[in-house]
Amino acid sequence: MTNKTRVFSGVQPTGNLHLGNYLGAITKFVAMQREHDCLYCVVDLHAITVWQEPAELARNTREVTAAFIASGLDPKLSILFNQSQVAEHAELAWIFNCVARLGWLNRMTQFKEKAGKDKEAASVGLYAYPTLMAADILVYRATHVPVGEDQKQHLELARDIAQKFNNDFARQIEAAGHADGFFPLPEPLIQGPATRVMSLRDGSKKMSKSDPSDLSRINLADDADTIAKKIQKAKTDPEPLPSEEAGLEGRPELENLIGIFAALTNKSRADVLRDYGGKQFSDFKRALVDASVAKIGPIGDGIRRLMSDTAEIDRILKDGSDRARAIAVPIMRQVKEIAGFIR
Ligand code: TYM
Repeated sequence: MTNKTRVFSGVQPTGNLHLGNYLGAITKFVAMQREHDCLYCVVDLHAITVWQEPAELARNTREVTAAFIASGLDPKLSILFNQSQVAEHAELAWIFNCVARLGWLNRMTQFKEKAGKDKEAASVGLYAYPTLMAADILVYRATHVPVGEDQKQHLELARDIAQKFNNDFARQIEAAGHADGFFPLPEPLIQGPATRVMSLRDGSKKMSKSDPSDLSRINLADDADTIAKKIQKAKTDPEPLPSEEAGLEGRPELENLIGIFAALTNKSRADVLRDYGGKQFSDFKRALVDASVAKIGPIGDGIRRLMSDTAEIDRILKDGSDRARAIAVPIMRQVKEIAGFIR
């Protein structure tokens, strides 16, 4: 990755940002902001693919923004904004709806999971969700996208859409002076020991905002006592800890906690097992509580402090949206020209 490549990623404002969002995505956002041009977006248009109470949506949009800042994102270095303030996302998404094929969307596992058994009752937006996601990235011609493992399939679709657009309009794109296609094929960045953080209650299920059990996740807004209680109650097995990674086989809950600890302390899983191999779970859990409280505790405090001044959050989102729009508008103008729209 060269310096000043453009990075884009998004987080849905659907409540309860958790440790999975933090370790899988937000820590990566922070790590990239000094070296690259970064846009981080609160994707409110994606949120409404399932019903959101309007007042809750506004609150959650501000809370995700507060969580970004409390986690170390600097609104001067990175562009922080909410999706609905930049209309070009929705405009490009429509064009992508006409580029993407039904067969491609039919393969999306997230739609199948979210729509459940009653697909007929799902919104059209939930089905078209990945074309909007491709538009989010490509309306800035972003090249790199830090995400958790669960977004991999959507990123592959975004690459397919970029490629098909480049092929469909190859003549016009070349005539406009772009030798290597108009859209880059965006690369997912899915790295580190915690790209798929699992539920604390069930090692076979992803940690998720929508899990009915609050004990299944550590929320970024949890206080120290709550964090400690959730880790103490986290499901484990009776065996002591292994010294090598092969010993994690068939022990998903343990594997998850080791990955979380490694990510929180900037170590590899092998290092963690070298330190804790042979020890009892109680020793390891105590260390995990300390590491979690040290990282997440201050973020919760920061979120509460920032949420006491919502006018300041709104100002940051407005400023970020203006800067984002300044990048998106000229790109959208070229897309329209390529596609043959008269302006
Ligand atoms: P969302 O809001 O579900 O999640 C935000 C980010 O957190 C990651 N994540 C996890 N990582 C590790 N373990 C977990 N248990 C876990 N749960 C969530 C997600 O992978 C994601 O990176 N569709 C996206 C939002 C989006 C987007 C985009 C992302 C919209 N447009 C364009 C990238 C680029 C989503 O629903 O993320």
